[in-house]
Amino acid sequence: MPDELTPQAASDQSEAALPPPDGGAPAIEPILTVPHEPGAPKPDPILEVDGLSRSFGGLLAVDVDHLEVQRGVTTALIGPNGAGKTTLFNLLSGFERADTGHWSFNGEAVTNPSADALARNGMIRTFQLTKSLAKLTVIDNVLLGAPRQLGERLWAAPFPSRWRSQEEANTERAEALLERFNLAHMRDELAGTLSGGQRKLLEVARALMADPVLIMLDEPMAGVNPALAQSLMHHITQLVYEGLSVVFIEHAMDVVTGISDWVVVLAQGQVIAEGPPWKVIHDDQVIDAYLGRRRAGAER
Ligand SMILES: Nc1ncnc2c1ncn2[C@@H]1O[C@H](COP(=O)(O)OP(=O)(O)OP(=O)(O)O)[C@@H](O)[C@H]1O
Ligand SMILES: [Mg+2]
Repeated sequence: MPDELTPQAASDQSEAALPPPDGGAPAIEPILTVPHEPGAPKPDPILEVDGLSRSFGGLLAVDVDHLEVQRGVTTALIGPNGAGKTTLFNLLSGFERADTGHWSFNGEAVTNPSADALARNGMIRTFQLTKSLAKLTVIDNVLLGAPRQLGERLWAAPFPSRWRSQEEANTERAEALLERFNLAHMRDELAGTLSGGQRKLLEVARALMADPVLIMLDEPMAGVNPALAQSLMHHITQLVYEGLSVVFIEHAMDVVTGISDWVVVLAQGQVIAEGPPWKVIHDDQVIDAYLGRRRAGAER
């Protein structure tokens, strides 16, 4: 991975950007004015983080002083293995509790909120290791992402017609998502029969069932074959054109330069650099963070 950060490799790869998807309009202009520095304020942040920290034993895994994520763009979160990227996602999405810090999401202040509450407000994340349920069908896996069903609520139980119509609407929506992600032909297969790449697509489809405003993807391309990865990148770009905000964790620099509008670099739990991809991948401190890891690894 460090090789991909060399200036030569970076400039070769930046030309591999995808063609713009159909429809919509990008909201990247405002971010072009943002200074290229850690913690830089954004014109329209969907997430604002302050003093966020989390330790495991003696290890300070996340120690973010200030971070803002711009609405309506694709932000890549990069950094060497163990930098704290997944832990930061876990904290922000309510899957782990922070030791210190507070943040706001979509204009609302939150402190150690539950994952459910955040999801209801439109923040949905996917996991580094896919969480599809192998023994459920593909369509049922997507349906699991639907907001809480009326039929599950006690007060609605006596009115089956209400929850049936909601169920039908959810099924229609899930089928449309399967179509969108080229999984319609697998609708009634068990999720366990999907390839690794198809499971990643399934996870994104499930995340979209909740109609998020911010979707956070933890290494969506890992283990995905190149053709599917290309298709997933196109889908992500399309979502942003449709108005969603996307934050994704990624190691492959061709993906980062291909689809991100902004890059945040984490090393040892801290934001060490921020900026557009072409700038960040040439940053000496960023290259050092990756190479330092590699040297430390080589010495072990
Ligand atoms: N539940 C946990 N208990 C103990 N240590 C943990 C726990 N979760 C994470 N860590 C440690 O915190 C640090 C950050 O881990 P994290 O998984 O957030 O890194 P990452 O940037 O996502 O790495 P990768 O790129 O390999 O996925 C690592 O040193 C990791 O071992
Ligand atoms: Mg991780």
